[in-house]
Amino acid sequence: MNEPLKIGLAGLGTVGCGVIRMLDQNNGEDIARKLGRPLKVTAVCARDKNKDRGVDISGYSWFNTPEELAKSGDIDVYVELTGGTDGPALEATKIALKRGLDVVTANKAMLAVHSTVLAKLAEENGCALLFEAAVAGGIPIVKSIKESLSGNSIQRVYGILNGTCNYMMTAMQNEGKPFDEILKAAQDEGYAEADPSFDVGGIDAAHKLALLTTLSFGTETSFDDIYIEGIEKITPEDIKAADDLGYRIKLLGVALKTDEGIEQRVHPTLVPSESAIGQVSGVTNCVCVDGDYVGKVMQVGPGAGEGPTASSVVGDLIETARIDKSANVKKTVFSMPVDKLAPYQRAPLKAHEGGYYVRLNLSDRPGTFAAVATRMAEFGISLESIVQRSHGTETDEKVDAAGVAAAPVVIITHDTTEQAVSEALKAIEEDGHIVGQPNMIRIERL
Ligand code: HSE
Repeated sequence: MNEPLKIGLAGLGTVGCGVIRMLDQNNGEDIARKLGRPLKVTAVCARDKNKDRGVDISGYSWFNTPEELAKSGDIDVYVELTGGTDGPALEATKIALKRGLDVVTANKAMLAVHSTVLAKLAEENGCALLFEAAVAGGIPIVKSIKESLSGNSIQRVYGILNGTCNYMMTAMQNEGKPFDEILKAAQDEGYAEADPSFDVGGIDAAHKLALLTTLSFGTETSFDDIYIEGIEKITPEDIKAADDLGYRIKLLGVALKTDEGIEQRVHPTLVPSESAIGQVSGVTNCVCVDGDYVGKVMQVGPGAGEGPTASSVVGDLIETARIDKSANVKKTVFSMPVDKLAPYQRAPLKAHEGGYYVRLNLSDRPGTFAAVATRMAEFGISLESIVQRSHGTETDEKVDAAGVAAAPVVIITHDTTEQAVSEALKAIEEDGHIVGQPNMIRIERL
């Protein structure tokens, strides 16, 4: 048996302890047999040395900070699992790469913002920087795009990238309850964090999308160019109306190559109920890739949790253990060397083309329905359907300025532009026929 790969683990939360359990208690011997060398955790750091985590860390060297571990640990590979965009996570990762250590991480926030700097450091120092666990947890999408699909010109990459949101949208669909109630239940059951803002606000999905974009299109990572809208405004009325029209509402992350640049968007999206993505429910994630030669590929699986995330981290550790550092083969962090990545060019969202769902509360008076349809036509928008729905609980109280009750109306448009829909809705609001604000949700054509 060859020398072990010595691993320094920064962060002993769910994933870190999962990696220890996987290597030390369960699959370590099989992995060593496959590799011809064992994977051995030799050094760790976390906030509290004495916390009971259900794993024995007494045999590992202890470091008080990630930076100390990265600087002084007797390790071959540094594993960043502490989280956070900047701070100790970023500093320690830089220290490790400058020291020539390979790095494995699940930290999507850090990579989404600093991937270019970190990839440069990795490539200059001949190190691997692997991040399978950072995108959709246990789904092996990073290696799929970087390796198996890398001969394709990819047109679009998209998916359900946040399990908390998909769990909540599925529960809203099944139970018909409002967002706040579903969020509270998800928190009680451990499916949503005490501070859910990163998940429900779409930030977590956007971090993953930023990395998928770079992998798929060979452009620099640009988290700041992502249009982000969370699921907070989705109501049971939207879910019911969409369902009646044959759609499910999912929080999707979508990156699309267009003539004007790249669209990166995270927002609630209507997809056909019977489509494969429409059927992905609960905490499950999925990632779809449209490639010119392969066609459409979809991977479905667990996007979070101890086992799935540890599975991806350990897969990356196995890859680092296979690297022959003396062979002088250049490792690239993304699908190409970092200095070959194209600058990111953002396609303006107003140019986005697609169908739209619009729900508005329309004064129940003669002519208002026709006025809305006319405004849509003025902006060149063709309607697939326009339906007046029965007054739901949410809308019962609504009356217009003249005291006339407002009826919920749902419109589905044919493909049009974001600009046309925004301008038409502004004009409709100014006409004074509606109560409150229209709720607009994009439809993704699959
Ligand atoms: N909180 C994420 C989710 C997993 O709900 O999918 C970690 O990114």
